[in-house]
Amino acid sequence: MDLIIAANWKMHKTTAETVDFCQALLQNESLFEGVKVLVCPPFTALPAASGVLRGSTIKLGAQNMHWEEQGAFTGEISASMLLELGVDYVIIGHSERRHLLGEDNRMIRLKVKTALESGLKPILCVGETETEREDDATEKVIKKQLVEALEGLTAENVHSLVVAYEPVWAIGTGKAASPADAETASSFIREVIRSIYGPKTESNVYIQYGGSVKADNIGSFAVLPSIHGALVGGASLEADSFGTLIQAARKAVIS
Ligand code: 13P
Repeated sequence: MDLIIAANWKMHKTTAETVDFCQALLQNESLFEGVKVLVCPPFTALPAASGVLRGSTIKLGAQNMHWEEQGAFTGEISASMLLELGVDYVIIGHSERRHLLGEDNRMIRLKVKTALESGLKPILCVGETETEREDDATEKVIKKQLVEALEGLTAENVHSLVVAYEPVWAIGTGKAASPADAETASSFIREVIRSIYGPKTESNVYIQYGGSVKADNIGSFAVLPSIHGALVGGASLEADSFGTLIQAARKAVIS
């Protein structure tokens, strides 16, 4: 299984900054062989990113979408609007949307379902808060997030699913999970998926780790048996250092 490394820029970068980043990242494209690289800019910068990245191996992702095809949903964006721009992936249920913007498992389920039915590959984010971790509730929380997000979906539906394990306490804090903790949580995610869909489907699902991933720690996550990549926030904002991070992951897996 290739690694899949995604840049989640959150609410960063104008269109002009996006063009500069994508052009700079493309300079190093040949060094990323064996890694699926994905850039997830804000909605407004998607058309520009799509233009620069067209024809390259670097894929485009969105950071959110609505589950309805169209309608009176002020401020929302549909799957077909994303597909029209050449978007392949969509991040769903990021903890910032869950905790700061009130997204719940029901909304996340509808989004995952629509994304899969539309041909977008969802990156479903799950992860516990610091309090949940201290209460020893990590597995309970992750299981609920997964089961409720996947309810009603068939093994066929989830063939292109990516799950990002992002412990909330590790996001933007500089305090990444230990590789051992990331592996424990990710193999538990695999166990839950296996119990619902069986081993074949589980083995096709990518799991990324996210939370304070940097060039100097990505290698220790990339080599873990249950994890195949990372969802990167802060360290994805500069093209050169993001390129270095991708190469570090690749080297760790090859060596
Ligand atoms: P940081 O890499 O900045 O911790 O953010 C992680 C994240 O939320 C990616 O989705």
